[in-house]
Amino acid sequence: MVAENTAKKTFSVTLRVWRQAGPAAPGKFVDYPASNVSPDMSFLELLDVVNDKLTIEGGEPIAFAHDCREGICGTCSCTINGKPHGPGEGIATCQLYMRTFADGDVIIVEPFRARAFPLVKDLIIDRSAFDKIQQAGGFISVRTGAAPDANSIPVPKGDADLAMDAAACIGCGACVAACKNSSAMLFVAAKVSQFALLPQGQPERDTRVLSMVAKMDELGFGSCTNQYECSAACPKLISHDFIARMNRDYLVASLKSAFAPASNASGGGAG
Ligand code: FES
Repeated sequence: MVAENTAKKTFSVTLRVWRQAGPAAPGKFVDYPASNVSPDMSFLELLDVVNDKLTIEGGEPIAFAHDCREGICGTCSCTINGKPHGPGEGIATCQLYMRTFADGDVIIVEPFRARAFPLVKDLIIDRSAFDKIQQAGGFISVRTGAAPDANSIPVPKGDADLAMDAAACIGCGACVAACKNSSAMLFVAAKVSQFALLPQGQPERDTRVLSMVAKMDELGFGSCTNQYECSAACPKLISHDFIARMNRDYLVASLKSAFAPASNASGGGAG
């Protein structure tokens, strides 16, 4: 639990931000003092204020990604004081408020660091590796244009709830950034499980887990060594239990594949 600065008066902090003009440029931390900080400002609003000042002074604004600012889109990914999305639990960076910090704090802000997430500029990283994993199997094939009645396929309540828990993943990459191995297992497990738990996800269940894990391995994400930093950093508090669930699915699918005719066999390795 993070203590909150509940004083209503404004205060001062220093943002120590990673600045890097591009993937091949050298990077370094630069200090940006900020005064008159309201405890009710969001962290991204403070970055806006700092950028306004930089722009007025003719400097280069800090590049950072954001979209919804409501914890939905997953684009506002950065590491604050060594923790993906900063102090607090179950929140994305855009849901972090300055009342979390105290007067005089030096706040260290840097991009998510992982080989599979190359830096674009300053705090912005390229997370298209996640898109590629999704494209490898994170979907179901359905006929569109004639939606069936919502209750025509009964789903047990427990399964529906678990599937919704997995589907809460916003693909921000905090799990990868938090993991010492830069493993994407929590992300992939959530995307696999949200379908594996539902009847609609059964026809492609085996090919989905094999394809997504193979793509994850191919893109340079590391292996899971059960440290569970991923679920601790997840803004949606997605449980690492989904990793165990995916590993079981992967094992079953691998065995089926091993005993299938050679033309149907798939490769890859989870864990
Ligand atoms: S800006 Fe969308 S989750 Fe933060």
